[in-house]
Amino acid sequence: MAERIFKDSFLSILLCVLFSYSIHSEDNACVVETACLCQLNDERIIDISHVTKDEPLSVSKENLTYLFYPCSNYKYDEAHIKKLKLDVNVTLNFCNKDGASLCLYNATDKSLTNLGDAKDAKFSGNLLKSLVYSRPKSNITSLIKLDCTPDDTNSYLTLEKNQSSDTHHLILFSRYACAHLEQHGLSTGSTLLIMFCVGFGIYLIGGALVLHYLRGAQGKEMIPNFDFWVDLPYLVRDGTVFLLSGCNPLSVARAETYDRI
Ligand SMILES: *[C@@H]1O[C@H](CO)[C@@H](O)[C@H](O)[C@H]1NC(C)=O
Ligand SMILES: *[C@@H]1O[C@H](CO)[C@@H](O)[C@H](O)[C@H]1NC(C)=O
Ligand SMILES: *[C@@H]1O[C@H](CO)[C@@H](O)[C@H](O)[C@H]1NC(C)=O
Ligand SMILES: *[C@@H]1O[C@H](CO)[C@@H](O)[C@H](O)[C@H]1NC(C)=O
Ligand SMILES: *[C@@H]1O[C@H](CO)[C@@H](O)[C@H](O)[C@H]1NC(C)=O
Repeated sequence: MAERIFKDSFLSILLCVLFSYSIHSEDNACVVETACLCQLNDERIIDISHVTKDEPLSVSKENLTYLFYPCSNYKYDEAHIKKLKLDVNVTLNFCNKDGASLCLYNATDKSLTNLGDAKDAKFSGNLLKSLVYSRPKSNITSLIKLDCTPDDTNSYLTLEKNQSSDTHHLILFSRYACAHLEQHGLSTGSTLLIMFCVGFGIYLIGGALVLHYLRGAQGKEMIPNFDFWVDLPYLVRDGTVFLLSGCNPLSVARAETYDRI
């Protein structure tokens, strides 16, 4: 009886753990994240480090130009400003000090405003990711939607139609915005599965050999822990009842009571 209860609770707990793990796997939060890379919990990654290597991507509307350089800060010094053909008032260049990853050029007063350093960048959202820059000191937030366009060789930036007063809304169209599998190695899931299958194979074959040669078992008696495997469907049923009842230990006892009646 005690053994039975132990088996029941062990299997039920295992089911609960697996079940909560599967729920967890469904959302697409970043497990590991840098300013450049978001690793999703299904082993896929979004890596924007190759969006542009040379100059920042830009998009203009009226007198405003947004300049986006992913992953690291672009230095808006005199030489680079000349290269970008911007007419900047040096006393109003706030992207110069340590550079900026997202910078706003205002042609009205010829200023450059730092909207975010690379280290301010955070991935947000679940299925559709955005890169969010927030500057707590100035209360400026900028949100760049990452729009996956696998067939585009070039990446480009557009402005969202709806802009809010406290947030700049941009969209990046790029094939680097697509989530893809990392190219090397086996995933943790596949490794675990292979280890489990190999282990189970050894257990089954090894167990059968041991039972056959040491105890002279024949036929189905050669299956190790035969009683347990016969019981398994019932254990799974109890485990499922336990799970559906929100992991309430009383429910299994109840299911068994119904059985007896
Ligand atoms: C640059 O900006 C400063 C501060 O706003 C202003 O005093 C100065 O006149 C501007 N210079 C030019 C050349 O526009
Ligand atoms: C754009 O900048 C020019 C030159 O500074 C200015 O005359 C014009 O009014 C500005 N337009 C807007 C919409 O701010
Ligand atoms: C651009 O500069 C003009 C003149 O200083 C200012 O009125 C306007 O609000 C600025 N635009 C933005 C988006 O900062
Ligand atoms: C930022 O926002 C907070 C709360 O909304 C406000 O108290 C603070 O003055 C703002 N800072 C700036 C620089 O606008
Ligand atoms: C843009 O804003 C308008 C009015 O605030 C709203 O009705 C519309 O749904 C918004 N569009 C998008 C794409 O968010």
